Order: sequence, then structure tokens, then C-alpha cells
Amino acid sequence: ELGDYAHFMEKEIFEQPQALENAMRGRFAEDGSTANFGGLNLSANELRATSRLMFCACGTAMFAGLVTEHLVERFARIPVECDHASEFRYRNTPLFSNTLFFVISQSGETIDTLAAMREAQRKGFKVLAINNVVGSTIAREADGGIYQHAGPEIGVASTKAFTSQLMIGAMLALYLGRIRDMSFRDGVEIVKALKAAPDLVREALQQADHIKQIAQRYAQVSDMLFLGRLELFPIAAEGALKLKEISYIHAEAYPAAEMKHGPIALINADCPSVFLVPNNELFNKVVSSMQEIKARGGPIIAITTDDADLPEGLADDVITIPACHEAVLPIVATIPLQLFSYYVAVERGCDVDKPRNLAKSVTVE
Ligand code: M6R
Repeated sequence: ELGDYAHFMEKEIFEQPQALENAMRGRFAEDGSTANFGGLNLSANELRATSRLMFCACGTAMFAGLVTEHLVERFARIPVECDHASEFRYRNTPLFSNTLFFVISQSGETIDTLAAMREAQRKGFKVLAINNVVGSTIAREADGGIYQHAGPEIGVASTKAFTSQLMIGAMLALYLGRIRDMSFRDGVEIVKALKAAPDLVREALQQADHIKQIAQRYAQVSDMLFLGRLELFPIAAEGALKLKEISYIHAEAYPAAEMKHGPIALINADCPSVFLVPNNELFNKVVSSMQEIKARGGPIIAITTDDADLPEGLADDVITIPACHEAVLPIVATIPLQLFSYYVAVERGCDVDKPRNLAKSVTVE
């Protein structure tokens, strides 16, 4: 089953262009300006009346929810909350009646996510599931949902299921935007951008050898920081989680500007930082944060877009990804982080597909 790959994680990383195609297949409207989902089981009226979205999920799936929060708020101007399913189930948060409630789960068996869903249903909400495993418990108990069609994910570390959730989140943001105030023209632009995602991911995957060389040089560190802003902050968090899970290196993520509020105290020559620094409206701000780290002797790996002009010598290592639409950037920026943690873990001789203490789906509380 592994073919030419050494691990399922590696195989699943390289399967992402296909998984993204599968998430999109048959889901764009004929006019090319929006997405459609067959399984939501909600009328356009019900969706139009939505005044708030809530996402509950665990681990990597929650980071997909956090990215989706940014895109839904930007494209549809609907306020969104995203919570750890394990917290939501006990915190008795007040929910407005027009809240559209989603859970996100690759396996559809995560007990905390299932419990969050049941709690929302108990309060009378319809719950929609973004889920990969067809016929899973969450899929069966949900009131509707969106299947990811990413194919089986065997590696304990989620890879293709995550980027597929990001794709569905972006399509959902587009869909909700178009039933509100988003123009035909903006919708067409986003559809085009999403359709380009598989090729952009292929391009990012071509950096594998370069990233492997970088990873081998950092494989023996004991602490790392992952820094990004806006919709790339949850991507930084996912990068840190991936590294922790499979290489057992301590890693933390922060919105880059938070460093000065405490974590910068950690910085020295032994604590490298990975910066997500695309050419967007916050480019100069992130560059300033990088300068603050460099001034304190912290090694820097920069993941930047090919249209950005990073100051010479600021980063010790640079990984370039193709410039792309903000709806797709989180997907493309995830690729080098997955490859980095994978190659670090391989270099350290870790059991990549079955990391210690972890199970593929967490079915006990
Ligand atoms: O199957 P789920 O998406 O519900 O799983 C949620 C988390 O347990 C999962 O994403 C976990 O964080 C992964 N091991 C991450 O790689």
C-alpha cells in the first residue's frame, strides 16, 4: 500500500493535490461564482438567517476551524466562534438561536467532538459535520454535513485531512458570502483561486528535498517557535502540533506580534523560529518581528511567497511557496510545515506513523 513511500504520512502529504480535487469535485455552481453542498439539509432561507457560526473540533481539526473563522468573517461578514470540543461540552456557552453549528472531525469518532455535537443538539440546534470517514458516528448523528472525500488517512498525524478541511472551509466561506453580499465578480475570483490550489500544492511539494536538508540541520533542537498572523496563525499552530506529535520536540505557536509580550524571553541560539511571512498587508510587520528575533540571536526559518522581497540575510533558511489568493494561502503554507516535521522526525529515528502515546482517533474522554 505504501508504494514508493517510506511512511503513510509521507504518502498522505503527497496525496494532497488529489484530496483537494476530491473536496471540490461537483461542488461549484455552473455560473462559476460559488460553491454548493448537497448534504447541508438547510434551506437558503435558514442559511440566509444565520447570524453566527460556531465550530467545535479537536486538535488539527480545530485549527481548520480557526482558519475557516477568518475566511467566513472576511467573505461573509458573519461572526464566528471556534472552540475546543472538549471545552464546549462543559462550558455551557450561551448560543443565539440563529447560530449555525458545525463540528469538524476527520475520523468522525472523536468522543469530545461527538459530545459537543450532542450537547448542541440537546439545546435544539441542528449540527452539521465536516467529516472524512463516511458512515462514522458523527456523520450518522449529524443533521447534515459535508464529506471531505480525502480518502483513508492512516498516519496518526493528520495531513491531507487537514488541508481538505481547509478547502471545505474556504468553499463554505465563499458559499455563505455569495448568499449575502459577495459580488459575482469576487465569487468568480475565489472559485478560480480554489481550483488552482492542487497545482499550487504540487509546486510547494517540489520543495521537499530543500526542506529535508533544512530539517536535518534542525533535527536536534529541543524547542521551536512557529509564528504567523491572521489566518496563518492557526497554520503556525498546526505546524507546532505536527512537530510535537511526531518528533517529540517542544514547539509553540504564537501570533508573531505576541512574541514581545513574553515568549521572546525564550529566544537564544538554541531556539529557532519558523516564520510564516507571505507578501500580504502585514508583511512589514512580520519582518519587524523577525528582526527582533534575529537581534536576540534566534535562528530563523522563513516560509515566504515567491512575490515577497525578504531583506537579505534576515532568515537563516528560506522556503518559498507560490504566491496565491488568501483563501488558498493557508493550504499552501501548510505543505512546508508538514514536510519539515516529517523530515525532522525521520532524522530523529521516530516512529512517524505511530507516535508514542497517540491513537488515530481519541474515543475515550
Ligand atoms: O478525527 P478527528 O479529526 O476528530 O481528530 C481530532 C484530533 O484528535 C486530531 O486532529 C489530532 O490532533 C491529530 N493527531 C493531529 O495530527
